[in-house]
Amino acid sequence: MEDDKISELIVNAFEARTRSYCPYSGYAVGAALLTGSGDIFRGCNVENSSYGATICAERCAALKAVSEGERVFKAIAIAGAPRDASEVRDYAYPCGVCRQFLSEFGGSDMMVIVAKSIDDRKIYKLGELLPEAFTSDSMK
Ligand code: THU
Repeated sequence: MEDDKISELIVNAFEARTRSYCPYSGYAVGAALLTGSGDIFRGCNVENSSYGATICAERCAALKAVSEGERVFKAIAIAGAPRDASEVRDYAYPCGVCRQFLSEFGGSDMMVIVAKSIDDRKIYKLGELLPEAFTSDSMK
């Protein structure tokens, strides 16, 4: 993928992060998902007083995409840090549930970008973060 597209995804992830609703953890996450059609879907974490009902940023973006008819995920950029932090100090890796969820539509080749800034990022294939994934093939 071109560097410009990776940068665009990261910028979108940071913008999405500003919409995070995280009154309980105070940890704000943003994600930007690139789909097969070339569109970008943003998501943020949306918490709930019943903590387990919280939706992660990555699944928020994924649900927005699938509910708009997208079924192919190409790449996702993720940025997370305490809400009031002046800078993003650590890479925010997707949780296990989100890795599984992305795998459904992205497969092992999907690109996962974790970013502290536009220039400070790491890139993985989903298959590296979720080896030996359980898929529809597993049930055949
Ligand atoms: N969170 C995400 O949005 N994505 C992840 O992959 C891990 C965790 C959110 C959920 C919760 O609102 C906050 O981060 C702290 O767990």
